[in-house]
Amino acid sequence: MYSFIVAVAVLLNLSQAFPGMAQKRNIASITGDRLTTVAEPVQARDTAAAYPPFLGKRAADVRSPCPGLNSLANHDICPRSGKGYTVPILTKCLKDGLNVGGDFALVVGTTGIGSNPNPLTLQFDLDQLDRHNIFIEHDASLSRADTIAGDNHSFNQTIWDTVLDYYTGMSDTSIPVAAKAKYNRVTTEAERDPAFFYGPVQFVLSYGETALYLSTMGDPITGVAPIEYVRALFEEERLPYQEGWKPTTTPTTLATLGAMVLELNAANGEVLPEGLILGESSLRAVFKGLDPITGAVLSPILQTISGLLGVIA
Ligand code: HEM
Repeated sequence: MYSFIVAVAVLLNLSQAFPGMAQKRNIASITGDRLTTVAEPVQARDTAAAYPPFLGKRAADVRSPCPGLNSLANHDICPRSGKGYTVPILTKCLKDGLNVGGDFALVVGTTGIGSNPNPLTLQFDLDQLDRHNIFIEHDASLSRADTIAGDNHSFNQTIWDTVLDYYTGMSDTSIPVAAKAKYNRVTTEAERDPAFFYGPVQFVLSYGETALYLSTMGDPITGVAPIEYVRALFEEERLPYQEGWKPTTTPTTLATLGAMVLELNAANGEVLPEGLILGESSLRAVFKGLDPITGAVLSPILQTISGLLGVIA
């Protein structure tokens, strides 16, 4: 109860600091939303036709630099418009579409909201995730160019091909190969991007993203995924039901992602920033706007949003 009162007080305070935001929401609706975040278990269906069809993007819809969110929106599992994503919406659609747990949805949703220039609306649009080095978007992506090259948002086949090259002759992903492909993106951009920035936050996030595609297209424990599934996700922003993919029966959670991030790093030997301990805790830290090494607050706004949404530890 005490933390609820503090959260409301913070909201009211910040409403005064950001006029025009607070009146759009009332506190009852925020807390009401929060109570409806328990997602239904994922139900496996018999045929591809029984899953939500690929609908794609309409002219007014917006998309993100994230192949996972774009794919979910293209099937209208997450809102097809790409607009107005709240934590309850995200929690349900990540669970329904990819069997990703509410623990991840809550923290990543907080970060998504932080990318909205008007964060006290407690929602975000997918194109707001383009904001570079604000929260999630960073250099050395697997399938997007660095910001300095002019387009950090759109799928880039040339860059993605440098990742696929590592899988030549293979039909499935593996943690060691994914790890090497990911590290190559870092060394490549470090050499050619004069504005290259890759601090501890970006280090953690980029491992998390590799773990996400291995987990959701394959297996959250082994990281083995058919490469054709992974290609559909990145290249067409489509969930590969037609090819036989179904959401994994094991959920992807912060704990599974944290464990896989550690394995990925062990497999490629990339030197960790001094003092960084990879795993679930460092993932939680970056999504809460904390320095994953020192715990120092890097983003007061993310701290505030985390408090409002009840994100703990
Ligand atoms: C749970 C399902 C999700 C999956 C499977 C997923 C997967 C991925 C992958 C594989 C990447 C790397 C793309 C690349 O390096 O080219 C990525 C990037 C990104 N994701 Fe997601 N993601 C998911 C959810 C989210 C959510 C909920 C958010 C935000 C609220 C988000 C925001 C981003 C952003 C901003 C990037 C760009 C990072 C960069 O600069 O490379 N993702 N995601």
